[in-house]
Amino acid sequence: MQDILNDIYTTMLSRTDRGQVANYIPQLACVNPEQFAITVALPDGQVFSAGCAETLFSIQSISKVFTLTIALGKLGDAVWSRVGREPSGDPFNSIVQLEHENGKPRNPFINAGAIAVVDAIMMGHQPRETLGEILQFVRFLANDESIGIDEKVAQSELTTGDRNAALAHFMAAYGRMKHPVDQVLGTYFHQCAISMNCLQLAKAGMFLVSDGVNKHTGIRVVSAQRARRINSLMLMCGHYDGSGEFAYRVGLPGKSGVGGGILAVAPGKASIAVWSPGLDSIGNSKLGTEALEMLVQHTGWSIF
Ligand code: DON
Repeated sequence: MQDILNDIYTTMLSRTDRGQVANYIPQLACVNPEQFAITVALPDGQVFSAGCAETLFSIQSISKVFTLTIALGKLGDAVWSRVGREPSGDPFNSIVQLEHENGKPRNPFINAGAIAVVDAIMMGHQPRETLGEILQFVRFLANDESIGIDEKVAQSELTTGDRNAALAHFMAAYGRMKHPVDQVLGTYFHQCAISMNCLQLAKAGMFLVSDGVNKHTGIRVVSAQRARRINSLMLMCGHYDGSGEFAYRVGLPGKSGVGGGILAVAPGKASIAVWSPGLDSIGNSKLGTEALEMLVQHTGWSIF
């Protein structure tokens, strides 16, 4: 495995077109696009990495997998009255579908859907408490108490968050928000600003590899059925309007973030985290996708 990762790393180093860093969040626009990291965590406890696997980055939309898991734990199937579970076919920050479908976001991974999920898990609590809960859950999943939030990124997003504010207010107009919009948005921006490295992220994804049990800690996080369902959503919706392309090229459930990270799950085989800040035109890590494509070619881990 280490040889495969070294090979991928060397290939990625040679790439000249690395995509564009997210520029609509100023704090993400100043991240050096030359960076690349990959970690593969296996159920038997082995962990392999190449590149800067200990460098922290903003997990952004990857956090939506964790908040969805919390929401399913708290609300069960009632989550699906708040968000759908179909691919959107639209960009992650699109508003168009909301108007046609009664203000109900298509899935929990587009921005509108993730905002609705945060509103659902707040349950009358203050943003600070909800954030504490999200952070505690991520630390528990990764078995790492050091994971925190990059306040600069959160503030950067808050000051440029008009689009997300529009989505939230639009849903509120349909009576779909149970908490004040500014509180929900504040929580959402901070959740997206969680900083992790590839090592931590791969470990946090372990519970999705082995039917809901994190084999590194031996703890069951969710039922086998729930793990399968989260994986199915990641496959169909995890890369927004690029989900079909990702399934075609990589063939694994995956969730991307505009910080350039991708968490991919090879069921029964491995949890994989990749990071390279440059994005393709859809907003998914350009080299991250390419690296996963190479990994799957070498290992045969595609689910298809
Ligand atoms: O709300 C936003 O736009 C960002 N905090 C998250 C978007 C994101 O990561 C989309 N991912 N590819």
